[in-house]
Amino acid sequence: MNLFDVYPLYEVKPSSAKDVYVYDNQGTKYLDLYGGHAVISIGHSHPHYIKQIKDQLDQIAFYSNAIQNPLQKRLADAIGEHSSLDNYELFLCNSGAEAIENALKLASFHTQKRRIVAFKNSFHGRTSAAVAATDNAKITAPLNEQQAVTFLPFNDLIALEVELAKGDVCAVIFEAIQGVGGLDEPNEKFVYGMEKLCEKYHSSLVADEVQSGFGRSGTFFAFQKFKINPDIITMAKGMGNGFPIGGILVNPKINATHGLLGTTFGGNHLACRASLAVLDIIKKDNLQEKTKSLEKYFKNKASSIKKIKKIKGRGLMLGLEFDFEVSSLRKKLIYDYKIFTGGSSNKNLIRILPPLTIQEKHFEYFFKSLEKEMEKNYN
Ligand SMILES: Cc1ncc(COP(=O)(O)O)c(C=O)c1O
Repeated sequence: MNLFDVYPLYEVKPSSAKDVYVYDNQGTKYLDLYGGHAVISIGHSHPHYIKQIKDQLDQIAFYSNAIQNPLQKRLADAIGEHSSLDNYELFLCNSGAEAIENALKLASFHTQKRRIVAFKNSFHGRTSAAVAATDNAKITAPLNEQQAVTFLPFNDLIALEVELAKGDVCAVIFEAIQGVGGLDEPNEKFVYGMEKLCEKYHSSLVADEVQSGFGRSGTFFAFQKFKINPDIITMAKGMGNGFPIGGILVNPKINATHGLLGTTFGGNHLACRASLAVLDIIKKDNLQEKTKSLEKYFKNKASSIKKIKKIKGRGLMLGLEFDFEVSSLRKKLIYDYKIFTGGSSNKNLIRILPPLTIQEKHFEYFFKSLEKEMEKNYN
């Protein structure tokens, strides 16, 4: 049987991985500056992570959410400790898009409204409401167009108030650092204004931290650069270091009732144990804090490369915008220099989303390779 052909694939077949390196079936070593799309947080095949999952597998891998699972409470406590949001409540699911669906549905239950406000260049996933709130007509099917969504630019509080004043908006959903869209961020005045307007018009503020959360940006969640209290926070990718898990954090002002949300697989024993192991290592190895000096080092190195027009992002969620389209450069980086990087909807931008265990010496190799390639083919 053939695979349904939805991805253009690079000619690399990874067969093992360790920390910041991925190895193909010939034993060739690749530096992973993509983290499998911001998923690998504590490094590939971390021994503590492997042991925790293996131990759990020997005990119990899964049982229904109709029965108590104390690991979920342990995970809620650990996320509360790391994020300092211990008054929020946790609902677990399996992926980023699923976290978004649950967040938007909950916002709609809570406000009894149905329209969504999202932002230009947003990406929130590929399922029903998530893809409708994604600013990319190419991946939105006619079915998804039934969803009422209005896209606004960042930093326009007047336009936001005009929409909210209509009284039918259940959720304003934003990425504090846009991922797929290319690392743009709303400014401080807009973020605080957005929170106030949501409160004034009884719309829920949803912070999409699926890509930026779990320490990647230097704060536990990227929105925590500001002192705001979103109604709902979505998370996934780095949460499981590759084990599928997602979740939402719910502000205590939103009440839970039985049956409001539900899932078969969400919050299963293995997934909780994987995420607990991730949080153990983030804390033990001080990974969130370390992103700050790595960001500095990276930005300093990048600033000496002439072809780079803009350096974007925070922590280890970074972007390099060149004065040309980067798809062939990214191919060269993979095939000639053995470095994985990410693209974005901005065709001139390379995204850097490495495991949080990356070190300066790895960035040094990246910039040396980049300089070499610039001299060879981009002069
Ligand atoms: C900000 C953001 N939200 C949601 C999603 C969807 O996550 P998933 O691919 O796990 O469904 C993504 C995926 O890239 C994302 O970057």
